[in-house]
Amino acid sequence: MPEQSTRRQYPTRPESVAQVRTQVRELLASRGIEPHGNESAENAVLVASELAGNAVCHASSSGSYSVTLELHGGILAISVRDTEIETPPQWPTLGDAGATTGRGMFLVDALARDWGCAHKGEGKVVWAELLIDRERP
Ligand SMILES: Nc1ncnc2c1ncn2[C@@H]1O[C@H](COP(=O)(O)OP(=O)(O)OP(=O)(O)O)[C@@H](O)[C@H]1O
Ligand SMILES: [Mg+2]
Repeated sequence: MPEQSTRRQYPTRPESVAQVRTQVRELLASRGIEPHGNESAENAVLVASELAGNAVCHASSSGSYSVTLELHGGILAISVRDTEIETPPQWPTLGDAGATTGRGMFLVDALARDWGCAHKGEGKVVWAELLIDRERP
């Protein structure tokens, strides 16, 4: 059983991404982890933001998406579920130097200790796990 978990449903609208960042900060704060100045916690906020941003940008036909957060033994699992069948690349690269997009999953891959994508129902769940330091670095 996770020591703390939340699940929230969001509309696939750009404004929702800030609410997802707040969801992560609130869950960490509820366990006494203040994200500000804590690099591992800020990384978790960033990863959740990228995954939610992808649900908004690339799975907008879903209409809504859900974000589940589970904190267990110092690991935060972030799962973003949408109903779009397309998936992120398994091996993200930075791509063209001049490209204005296409870096989100590269960041997730760099910051998460593990991440993946699993088909679920008519869509999929993109998940990432990060180690959270309780102490500020
Ligand atoms: N939730 C998703 N549903 C469908 N396709 C996705 C999803 N997430 C990522 N993808 C696909 O993977 C590609 C790479 O995602 P990535 O987040 O790296 O870049 P981006 O979203 O295109 O740009 P950026 O994140 O830099 O703004 C996307 O362009 C999209 O084709
Ligand atoms: Mg993206």
